Amino acid sequence: MELKTPSLGVGRTALFTAWMRQLESERPDALFGDPLAAVMLSALAEDPVLAEVTEMIKQTHDSAAGFPTYFAVRTRFLDDEILDALGSGIRQVVTLAAGVDGRTVRLGLPPGTRWFEVDLPEMTQFKNALLAHSGLALACERRGVAADLREDWQASLRAAGFDPQQPTVWLVEGLLMYLTRAAGESLVAGLTELSAPGSRLMLEHLKAAMLEEEGRFVRERVEEQGAEWVSARDDLEEWLGGHGWQARVYAGDDPHIGHGRPVAPLPACWLAAAALPNGRL
Ligand SMILES: C[S@@+](CC[C@H](N)C(=O)[O-])C[C@H]1O[C@@H](n2cnc3c(N)ncnc32)[C@H](O)[C@@H]1O
Repeated sequence: MELKTPSLGVGRTALFTAWMRQLESERPDALFGDPLAAVMLSALAEDPVLAEVTEMIKQTHDSAAGFPTYFAVRTRFLDDEILDALGSGIRQVVTLAAGVDGRTVRLGLPPGTRWFEVDLPEMTQFKNALLAHSGLALACERRGVAADLREDWQASLRAAGFDPQQPTVWLVEGLLMYLTRAAGESLVAGLTELSAPGSRLMLEHLKAAMLEEEGRFVRERVEEQGAEWVSARDDLEEWLGGHGWQARVYAGDDPHIGHGRPVAPLPACWLAAAALPNGRL
């Protein structure tokens, strides 16, 4: 199959996280299974981009034992929160920076779920082609939306059929650290504007220490892929609270969300699950 791989550095990080999900899927005690990650790895087996990502995975594996467990725990935490939100009756989901996330094929979703996956045009094209090639059945009505999240992505989302009158589950995973603090701020303000009462927000951000010496090793690996961490924050509860969201926030290595997996200290992140009780401010 001819698949044009995303050339942008930050697009490669999506291949990396998909590979992390594949590693988890192979475990006998896997916290989830991601068939799309397997399809991606075999479709790109001969691609030089994948060789670069492989090299990074080897380095992180050899030097920080247990590194992939963070990605497994993060994925499962967000899966559970999404399914809980859908269980409460929400049927509209938006992933901002979806990358090669396989949730639209791998989760058991209630009938009538409509899922928008927003990413840069090149990545959206790659994902659409990969899904078509995979032959995997979608668990929902999926709409890929090509947009830059630093620009007017809301217009693209509305044009794709998003309904701001309905409550939404928002998912922001593996994105905010690549955006400036100001761009992250405007992203959260923008999604809040589109959120009907009862909406939920699941979000990941980097701990501030990751931009200091403590995070240097992982930062360098990210930079080798042509991407860069440019922001981090330790005040998620207050930050999201300022936008009207009531958030529960967990450290990535919090045993309460770890399913018995000891999570390595790198990369150190926060995971938040928030609800919008009274609508937008
Ligand atoms: C680390 S990946 C995360 C992908 C997915 N959420 C996951 O966890 O597997 C980062 C994603 O952010 C996307 N991205 C980065 N900057 C973006 C922007 N300005 N607008 C839209 N997407 C962006 C990249 O294309 C990439 O798919």
